[in-house]
Amino acid sequence: MPTVTIQPSGKTIDAETGSRLLDALLAAGEKIVSKCGGESKCGECHVFVQEGRKSLSKMQRVENETLDTVVGVGSKSRLACQSLLGTENVTVELLGFGS
Ligand code: FES
Repeated sequence: MPTVTIQPSGKTIDAETGSRLLDALLAAGEKIVSKCGGESKCGECHVFVQEGRKSLSKMQRVENETLDTVVGVGSKSRLACQSLLGTENVTVELLGFGS
């Protein structure tokens, strides 16, 4: 069972292997707006994965294409709605959601 650590809030939450990173963030009380309902269309769930990146599911083409439309994307970028948790802990950095 991986633990997700969320920055900058410092919250941690235990999640199920195979569950969506987005669901873990929402369960932790983070205010992520999921305009597309997790369909990899809005880019609102963009996060930086600081640790444990390799444990997440591989990026699919649809996620890659959506990230191409998001401003400020870097090498650690993922869409939380498209990232399934593996067995290792991950640390993610949110980008000013709810501000
Ligand atoms: S929630 Fe819309 S792209 Fe992830």
